[in-house]
Amino acid sequence: MSSSASKSNQQTLLLLAGDGIGPEVIAETRKIAEIVAPDLVLEDGLLGGASFEAHGEPLTAETLDRAKAADAVLMGAVGGPKWDGVARDKRPEAGLLALRKGLDVYANLRPAFCFPALSDASALKRELVEGLDIMIVRELTSGVYFGQPRGIETLPDGQKRGFDTQTYTSSEIRRVARVAFELAKGRQGKGGAFPGVLSCEKANVMESGVLWREEVTKLHDEEYANVPLSHMYADAAAMQLVRKPKDINVILADNLFGDILSDEAAMLTGSIGMLPSAALGDPGTPGLYEPVHGSAPDIAGQGKANPCAAILSFEMALRWSLNREDAADRIIKAVDRALTDGARTADLGGALSTAGMGDAIAKAL
Ligand code: IPM
Ligand code: MG
Repeated sequence: MSSSASKSNQQTLLLLAGDGIGPEVIAETRKIAEIVAPDLVLEDGLLGGASFEAHGEPLTAETLDRAKAADAVLMGAVGGPKWDGVARDKRPEAGLLALRKGLDVYANLRPAFCFPALSDASALKRELVEGLDIMIVRELTSGVYFGQPRGIETLPDGQKRGFDTQTYTSSEIRRVARVAFELAKGRQGKGGAFPGVLSCEKANVMESGVLWREEVTKLHDEEYANVPLSHMYADAAAMQLVRKPKDINVILADNLFGDILSDEAAMLTGSIGMLPSAALGDPGTPGLYEPVHGSAPDIAGQGKANPCAAILSFEMALRWSLNREDAADRIIKAVDRALTDGARTADLGGALSTAGMGDAIAKAL
């Protein structure tokens, strides 16, 4: 999968720490990287508000080129109230969307799993989440976040009208559905009532939802007939996720519904501060790795953020882009060990600082 062989023997990870708590959690990830992959070349770049301040753009062409040339890209977080008044196309979030689009990382893998030591940290009862292991596959480079036309116009009567366009083509649906089916193949035995792929849309009210269901069904019948497939309206899936989450194995959803369902799934595990994600394009292209949490401006700069999501995103980069499964396994074990030994940041009800948590994981390594 890695593209490094054609470039040089050295593998490169581009770190885009971004805004808010991003730099703090990336600093801890760097510590871990230096232990488990000392030969990995770590580069730094600017993204989001940090890039806007330096260059007037949330993502420069140069940074995108460096991302494309790297073996993998690890992001911290972007955004914050400081840029609320900035034009939409210059906002930090626009930089992230442009990076996803520019790397064409259309399949966003968002695992929701519960470390045993955190079974009591969830808002749900322990028995509902103990051993939870869901994979959400979110389409990441199309749908309503990118569709045209979009805008805010003034109507003849003086009031305004805001509009966005939800659009999906057959090939956009099929390529992300394929990722979900492939993942489900390797995850047999997980889930209960929905042991394969659970595809979520609103085919009852949206045309794009009708097409989504049609295309997913077609691909299933043509190539993945042996992988169980169920369809569910996205709102019902949101309910199912908190009712009986362990029934679910792989969720497949578009950009918007996947965004929402993945935040919900994150909370099942105790804290959104625990959850990593991987955004993948076609094999051989660099993946983009991001913690699911945001920039959390309310706690930025205070050393309170949980670095686990960033460290586990690095773990996913080792596994999915850098072909270093051993190093990835070491990280999972070390995080598990640190948690079992009681290491907790504030979001998990503990008192460790960001660096304290990073040190606990480093020690467990
Ligand atoms: C996420 C975030 C982003 C998204 C924002 C920051 C643009 O919510 O990664 O889930 O909506 O995709
Ligand atoms: Mg989100």
